[in-house]
Amino acid sequence: MRRVSIAALLLALAVSARGQESKPAEPALPQLTAQQDHKLMMDALGIKSLREGANGMNRNAPNAANYDEAKANPYPDLPDPLTLKNGDKVTTPEQWWSKRRPEIVEDFDREVYGRVPKDVPKVAWKVTSQTEDKAGDVAVITKKLSGRVDNTRCPEIKVEIQLTLTTPADAKGPVPVMLEFGFGFGGFGPRPGGPPGKGATPKGVGGFAAAGPSWQQQVLAKGWGYAIIVPNSIQADNGAGLTRGIIGLCNAGQPRKPEDWGALRAWAWGASRALDYFETDKAVDAKQVGIEGLSRYGKAALVTMAYDPRFAIGFIGSSGEGGAKLHRRNFGELVENLTGSGEYHWMAGNFLKYGGPLTPNDLPVDAHELIALCAPRPTFISYGASTGPGAEGQWVDQRGSFMAAVAAGPVFQLLGKKDLGTSEFPEVETGITGGELAFRQHKGGHTTGPNWPTFLAFADRYIKLGAAPQ
Ligand code: GCU
Repeated sequence: MRRVSIAALLLALAVSARGQESKPAEPALPQLTAQQDHKLMMDALGIKSLREGANGMNRNAPNAANYDEAKANPYPDLPDPLTLKNGDKVTTPEQWWSKRRPEIVEDFDREVYGRVPKDVPKVAWKVTSQTEDKAGDVAVITKKLSGRVDNTRCPEIKVEIQLTLTTPADAKGPVPVMLEFGFGFGGFGPRPGGPPGKGATPKGVGGFAAAGPSWQQQVLAKGWGYAIIVPNSIQADNGAGLTRGIIGLCNAGQPRKPEDWGALRAWAWGASRALDYFETDKAVDAKQVGIEGLSRYGKAALVTMAYDPRFAIGFIGSSGEGGAKLHRRNFGELVENLTGSGEYHWMAGNFLKYGGPLTPNDLPVDAHELIALCAPRPTFISYGASTGPGAEGQWVDQRGSFMAAVAAGPVFQLLGKKDLGTSEFPEVETGITGGELAFRQHKGGHTTGPNWPTFLAFADRYIKLGAAPQ
């Protein structure tokens, strides 16, 4: 079979490249296309074919995305976040922390987002520049940072995490910081199921040139700081990059194994390394750092919040499938979209199984349990409106994400916190923010922009300027 032999050849090439470590002129590491890497993973899993994803661009396509609520819940039974695998009920916080939470983490690691290797090399942070500037009328100090990953294991692969940190110049002590997954250079093209051409501007993540102060100005006005991390400097946003970046470095340039981490987990790892840095910077109150992101980076923000309990608060923007949306829903984007060669790199290789031969109903966990991993910390799930002028569209499945938040509620309650307090899907611009788990759809499009004021009012209850020793 031709395809199999190409895959074998690529692997052989890769292996021989590593076998020549001692020679000075080492051949470049092999570079796979996303399609080749995707096929290698299918072969490794013994998958012959995958089901097609939903088409969000063409309503007349045979596989057009479903937007009919009557057909949206083919698998209505969700795994119970408070039942152990042995069938016992979890009734105390202690059982949650020591037994059930680790079970859920293990399932997400193995089947969904992949495992972070045990021996990820160390990151050395360096301030590359420090400037004093003004953001609106606030005097600020901006540090540019580079987090260099030790690449002795594979010197051909360099990973330098880019991070900027901006804090008020007149701060009296360490300040809370909102960390955002930035878009780096350029944005996205048109998205399925939404109004066309909503690309992000390089600067405007979550801030789409809306009227009024930018989110950064809103944060500074509270006396907090903000930081932007560039996901692509951690791990490329495509399958071809999986043998490079932090994932490739850990594998010495070889393709992933089925349980290895995908880009979402790698981006989340990078955010945790940024938090490591903040713990060393006197300008930052590292116990009060929040994480925010939009869309694929909304997924990454949720994964970050779920996995790293040091993050104090999460603002999860339009995360959709692979984020806050239930995998078991048939509405908008599907598991089968994530398992295709354009998006599989976000996930563990093992996740491909659920796009064929298995179904989303075979997943041992679902998105409500990812949200539950954030408990008891305040978690705000944000979307734009599904319909109306300038709306975000339905591809992201706002309702399916709300349902996941509802189903995460019992864990927040068990830990003594307030959940959404309702299972009724709210109107646009009706924020449900009375508890530690919050949900709001703003009137705008694919952005967190218009939800910043509501998020910050919610955050005010938890994040306090001046809480850290000066
Ligand atoms: C596509 C994709 C989504 C993703 C989005 C984005 O729409 O289907 O899963 O969140 O791109 O990141 O912009």
